[in-house]
This record gives sequence, structure tokens and C-alpha cells, in this order.
Amino acid sequence: MISAFDVKEALKTIVDPELKRNLVDLKMVRDIDIQDGHVKVTLALTTLGCPMKKKFVENVKEVVAKLPGVKSTEVEVTAMSREELDKLFPKHPLKGIERVSHFVAVASGKGGVGKTTVAVNLALALARENLNVGLLDADVYGPSIPTMLGLMDRPRAESGMLLPLEKFGMKIMSFGFFIEGKQALIWRGPLVSKTLKQLLDDVMWGDLDCLVVDLPPGTGDPSITVAQSIPSVSVVMVTTPQEVALADVRKAVCMFRDMNIRIAGIVENMSYFIHGDSEERIEIFGSGGGATLSRESGIPLLGSIPIDLGLRKGGDSGIPLMYDAPNSDTGEVFKGIARKMISLSAISRKAVA
Ligand SMILES: Nc1ncnc2c1ncn2[C@@H]1O[C@H](COP(=O)(O)OP(=O)(O)OP(=O)(O)O)[C@@H](O)[C@H]1O
Ligand SMILES: [Mg+2]
Repeated sequence: MISAFDVKEALKTIVDPELKRNLVDLKMVRDIDIQDGHVKVTLALTTLGCPMKKKFVENVKEVVAKLPGVKSTEVEVTAMSREELDKLFPKHPLKGIERVSHFVAVASGKGGVGKTTVAVNLALALARENLNVGLLDADVYGPSIPTMLGLMDRPRAESGMLLPLEKFGMKIMSFGFFIEGKQALIWRGPLVSKTLKQLLDDVMWGDLDCLVVDLPPGTGDPSITVAQSIPSVSVVMVTTPQEVALADVRKAVCMFRDMNIRIAGIVENMSYFIHGDSEERIEIFGSGGGATLSRESGIPLLGSIPIDLGLRKGGDSGIPLMYDAPNSDTGEVFKGIARKMISLSAISRKAVA
């Protein structure tokens, strides 16, 4: 009769190609259940996004099926707990956010005001100032950084940590990398905070001068979780010029202040439009919202970004304006915002020195 010992011995022949140890030694075999020749193996992987998941399941089925007396094999996959991982892999020095000098979270009171556009182009503008920059898309509802940067690969997991993707000279991580296709997202609060914590703590961010975080819109749970999970984060509030947008931003400002989170500045987006060759600024969404907010709250206005077809196209094509046309008028606005942030010492070049 087949025993759990036989199954375990068979599983020792399966070696994780990255960790170079077998599944049993890696303590990935959590449970072996045998009922009348039907074998059920529960595997605990380092992460459920483990690129080897399918292969491991196939390998387990293959080696177990070869044992005499086995009628069927079932494999259940789960992920190791934080404690299990910590025991197995003593902390890698580049894992997590310990060596990140500054955190900038881009927030807004409501959706669609250009938060992600600002996060992406501001991150690139900071990278042009010779800073080591990372970009974290923490928008659980609609992660759009993969599209805006033309990145669809799934990050690799290695030794219990996730390797960020790299493009345009930045390290990038997004909720979107772990979602199949355009699947709608329904995240429950605890799952959001758990995943966010993983994207901060389990990613090999390494030495960064600044990690720019694209927050979900509004003042809901995910924004609060992110803000609370990040030590000494500075928030950049994005608004459009009209009064209705300001009402939401005011609410968000109050929320961050209540939580003692520093607001580094305000960025007014879609401030004006320059039509054709004329130099005349057409203020489609009204004017002065950012300045009004700045005056009443005492928060500096970092810059006003025009409506620019190049920004929209850059967002759709995966090649952001700040990469493609950094010397354009709009590019200069982003450079100005980045320099202002540096001069306000929201960011400095500590890690680069
Ligand atoms: N200044 C601008 N000029 C032209 N298009 C812009 C500008 N800012 C943003 N857009 C476009 O507006 C759309 C919404 O922008 P974006 O996705 O950055 O907003 P968001 O606040 O992140 O939205 P969400 O709340 O859904 O995350 C995008 O198609 C983007 O390309
Ligand atoms: Mg967005």
C-alpha cells in the first residue's frame, strides 16, 4: 500500500530551478492525503504568482502517478505564509522598501483627473534629474500603468521575492501585472491591504531615491491602507481646475491631514489648452482651481499641466510624453514640478551620492 513516505520521497526528485532545492527541502509540500490509492498533495509555493506553478503541478502528478498503487493524483496549490517565507529565506538585503529614501504618493479626490498620467510622467521627470526611481501602481480598481508603459509581462519571483519590471530606466510594479486579461476587479479590504503590503515588502526595490506610488482614486480604504503602509510618504494631490473637482480634493486633503500625512503639493491637470499655432490659452475647465486650493490650504502649487494630445497619445501607446518628448512645453512643466519637489526637499539624491 502506498504511504505518505513514498510520496514524499518521490517529490524529493522535483527541484525548483531557481532555488536549486527540492520541494520537500523547501517545505513546499504542506500535506499529503491518501485515500484508497487517491493521492492529494497540497503544495505551498513562495507566491501564488510563481511562474513555476503549472510546471510543479505537472511534475507532482507525473512522479506520484508512477508510484505503484496510485489511482489518481490531485494537487492543490496555496501560498506560504509570511512566517514560513521568513523562516525559509532570511531577508534579502534588497527586498522591500527599507532602502527607499523617499515616497511620493499621487492622489486625487476622484477618478479620471489624470493621476496616473501625472504619476508616470513625474516619475520619468524625476529619473531625468538623475534620481533612482521606482513606480508602484497601487490602483486596485483599475491599474493602468501597464498600459501606459506598454508592459504586460508577469514579474518573476525569486527566493521569495518579486523582481520589479524595468523600463525607461525605472523599476515598476503594478497590481495589473497579476490580473489575467481585463478581468474585473472586486477586491475586499483585507485582500487589498495584504496585496499592497506584498507589493511594498516582497518586491526587490533595492536602493531607490524615490518610489512614486499611483494611488486609487478617492479617499476609500485602499488609499488609506497605502498611505498607512508607507513610512513618511508625501502626497501630491492632482486636481482639475473646476470647482466640483476641488470639493473632492478638499475632502482628500482633510483625510490625509487627519492621518498626519504630509501633502507635498498640488498639481493642476488639464489646466488649459493651446489651440493650433495661437499662443492663446483656452481654459476649458475654468481656471484657478489649483491656485485657490493652494491659497486656502497653504499647500504649494507645483505646476499646471495643459491638455496636451501628446499626453493622451503617450498614455495609449505605452511611450509616455516625458520619454518621447521631454523637451516639449508640457515636458518642461513636468521638469518644473520635479525640480520643485526636489527643492521642497520632498526628494533628495541620498542614494545616488
Ligand atoms: N493633461 C492631459 N492632456 C491630455 N490627456 C490627458 C491629460 N491628463 C490625462 N489625460 C488623459 O485622460 C485620461 C485619464 O487620465 P488618467 O488615467 O491619468 O486619470 P486617472 O486619474 O489616473 O484615472 P483613474 O481614476 O481611472 O485612475 C487618459 O486617457 C489620459 O491619457
Ligand atoms: Mg489611474
